[in-house]
Amino acid sequence: MRKFLTRSLAVSAIALVALSTAACGSSDRDTASTGSSGATKGFAKDATIGVALPSKTSENWVLAGDLFTNGLKDAGFKGDVQYAGASTTVADQQSQISSMITKGAKVIVIGATDAAQLGTQVKQAKDSGAVVIAYDRLITGTADVDYYVAFDNFKVGQLQGQALLDGMKAKKPTGPWTIELFSGSPDDNNAGVFFNGAMDVLKPLIDKGDLVVGSGQKDVKQTAIQGWKAEGAQARMDTIMTSTYATGGKTLDGVLSPNDTLARAIITSVKAAGKPVPVVTGQDSEVESVKSIMAGEQYSTINKDTRKLVAQTIEMVKKLQAGSEPDVNDTKSYNNGVKVVPSYLLPPVIVTKANAAEAYANDPKLSPLTK
Ligand code: BGC
Repeated sequence: MRKFLTRSLAVSAIALVALSTAACGSSDRDTASTGSSGATKGFAKDATIGVALPSKTSENWVLAGDLFTNGLKDAGFKGDVQYAGASTTVADQQSQISSMITKGAKVIVIGATDAAQLGTQVKQAKDSGAVVIAYDRLITGTADVDYYVAFDNFKVGQLQGQALLDGMKAKKPTGPWTIELFSGSPDDNNAGVFFNGAMDVLKPLIDKGDLVVGSGQKDVKQTAIQGWKAEGAQARMDTIMTSTYATGGKTLDGVLSPNDTLARAIITSVKAAGKPVPVVTGQDSEVESVKSIMAGEQYSTINKDTRKLVAQTIEMVKKLQAGSEPDVNDTKSYNNGVKVVPSYLLPPVIVTKANAAEAYANDPKLSPLTK
């Protein structure tokens, strides 16, 4: 229940709704577990399947687009894969989804640019008879999202929090340790889920005084980086280095970074300030970060194998085509403020230098980097 509430709270804009839903919860969960897709009808084997992805803020999104294009084609569907642009992301994605509906898409897979701003489009999709699958990022505040397919993002945050502790303890066995906290873009529901997962591990130690947030900035709002932009993370870290670590001899032991793009920006900033690189976490197994981990700089990343996530999503599409309910393995964790969305969650894997070779053994792009 604690975990459930924490995840619900991640839907920050609608936390109160989520809480009250959680509190009186069972009817929502029941609705969720039976599904609400109307999937049993099935559709043509060569139907159009829309895939609306956010802008390319990390390598995983680039890879996902390629995998969807090829995988849907191989499965016999007409894939319509679109990315939101770099700046007008929300409006772009809204109009891309509308155009998929006009083209008669039977399933629309959405990696949301802004979790809370797709209510109108997903309602139109449902009204047209399409099934809506939230991909990687939950869509919030609407009953019209049928399924969620993702890595367990709360678990991602917990693994990041634990890696931060492990890395700092390996360097300096006893605390207190001085840390800084970063979180992702406030419009991405995942950002709050990652942060809450990490705080599930870190907060008890902050409360005890074993961990000290040097800048004092502990609130998710203070730590957020709009648009997951590297330059935003670098600028915030630059400011913190000047305000907190330039004088007075305070040593920065670790930084909670929610992904690799931000991790590398944070490391660049600390180095530019002439300070030793602290333990920095990450996520996504981006090429440059895996190299950095192997070189002993970035401490950890997370392997969320995009190939598996896309394959799972295409499996769901195939089930829907055949008129069956897609498999889900979680019907209680991901409350979007209106309902608990039936989810298929894959397990994320923490990666450090110690297990990189094993973790990427089956990844032709990353495995050579670990040799
Ligand atoms: C994804 C992360 C990614 C971030 C920025 C999140 O929603 O889950 O894997 O690092 O977006 O692209």
